[in-house]
Amino acid sequence: MHTRLLTSVLIALLVCVPPVHAQNSYEATLSIRLDQPRWSINRNIYGQFAEHLGRLIYEGIWVGENSPIPNTRGFRNDVLAALKELHVPVLRWPGGCFADEYHWRDGIGPRDKRPRRPNASWGGVDTNAFGTHEFLELCELLGADAYINGNVGSGSPQEMMEWIEYMTSDADSDLANLRRRNGRDKPWKVPYFAVGNETWGCGGNMRPEFYADVYRRYATFIKNHSGNQIQKLAVGAYDENYNWTEVLMSQAGKQMDGLSLHYYTLPTGNWDKKGSATQFDEKAWHTTLLRTLRMDEFIQRHSAIMDKYDPQKRVGLMVDEWGLWYDKEPGPDLGALYQQNTLRDAVAAGINLNIFHKHADRVKMTNIAQMINVLQAMLLTDKDKMVLTPTYHVFRMYRVHQGATMIPVDLSTPEYKLGEASVPALSASASRDAEGRLHVSVVNLDPNRAAEITTTIWGGPIRSVTGEVLTAPAINAMNTFDRPNTVKPSPFSGYKLEGSRLRLSIPAKSVVVLELK
Ligand code: AHR
Repeated sequence: MHTRLLTSVLIALLVCVPPVHAQNSYEATLSIRLDQPRWSINRNIYGQFAEHLGRLIYEGIWVGENSPIPNTRGFRNDVLAALKELHVPVLRWPGGCFADEYHWRDGIGPRDKRPRRPNASWGGVDTNAFGTHEFLELCELLGADAYINGNVGSGSPQEMMEWIEYMTSDADSDLANLRRRNGRDKPWKVPYFAVGNETWGCGGNMRPEFYADVYRRYATFIKNHSGNQIQKLAVGAYDENYNWTEVLMSQAGKQMDGLSLHYYTLPTGNWDKKGSATQFDEKAWHTTLLRTLRMDEFIQRHSAIMDKYDPQKRVGLMVDEWGLWYDKEPGPDLGALYQQNTLRDAVAAGINLNIFHKHADRVKMTNIAQMINVLQAMLLTDKDKMVLTPTYHVFRMYRVHQGATMIPVDLSTPEYKLGEASVPALSASASRDAEGRLHVSVVNLDPNRAAEITTTIWGGPIRSVTGEVLTAPAINAMNTFDRPNTVKPSPFSGYKLEGSRLRLSIPAKSVVVLELK
């Protein structure tokens, strides 16, 4: 009697309660075409952006030689060490909107003689302690290429031309000698130079037809000195401003090496009420990721216009500002555009980087906004303290894709739905590096269900798998100065290798990077 009762209870339980696996996971398939290698993923896709804004330059990286914060010739050591881990390939400076009000002569010579100027874009006064020499020295310390954004809005072609000569000429000229007197004998290499920033907005409110001519004029005076080869970058569109791309490509495409694109993800899509960086629910998680995925559409459509004028894809699409932008958090003022960074930012970063890999035949550079203490930052500082953000960890995990060959992936994934809206539950990309290692990045957008992925690798036997996973219990998990390790990568063990088949178990709301050999 007892046994029969127990059996019926067990059967009832099995019928009513679906197995945990079925309830909390979904199935997907991933096909990795190692047999069809495509283009190179330009390492500059992992570029950074440092504007004179809030506490990015001053405190974030530059504390000065006399600071009690441990530093190397004025650059803080903790920040330098953390950034070196990212293998930053290229660094954009000095803005942003700030670039169109920056006059380079303010930032050279003895620091105590440099003028203090109001920062008209972002508030406060700039001491100019960090100028051309400091920026280019920072690039050397990081091993990054310099990307300088010239001033069109309030500068002149002559000022731009002279700046380039000052930095890159080895001649016995007045400007090169001035640089020598200011402490730098050898000219620097400056491989990227942009003619203005957002000239449709803060950089001059121009119409594309007008700017196309302005660009052509300024670009004429960007000269190559002493073996330095400059790639000239024109200001491109924001979001879906396709007409801008059309006009610039048709009227100045032949004179440029790159055209920029700016796209910021706002959780609400509304600049007046963007949404909180930290206090958000699943709906905001979902809309943020949905809006992040729009990057794919923008790149595809701007690239299609560029293809009409440049089918050889000589001109790069440079997404030189991207990232998540939130409302200022209530509480003490921590500097202009300072925001916290959560697991949501990490997932969005992974999605964007996967999109950039997919389009790396046209996308030759991107610069996340911005490196420290501003918008979707890698690092946050508070006086002598520093914390690595979830986005930092994604950049560190994904650095294996820099310069590697893009391997196409075919993903069959269910949707992650919320109300009427839906997004693909997974995002993935793959690449093979110079040593033949295959790296696969998988992002699970679904915050509630793990992904059980059957993976087939075409064109190569795989013998070993290692990996890292970044996740946390809460969608808004973050690292703070008191708890710096709430969101950090850990070794990934959710795989089973059976010949060329790989079973992956990717946790909900996570970013995974695998190395397959
Ligand atoms: O990244 C912050 C600002 O956003 C930049 O200065 C400007 O180019 C953009 O509008």
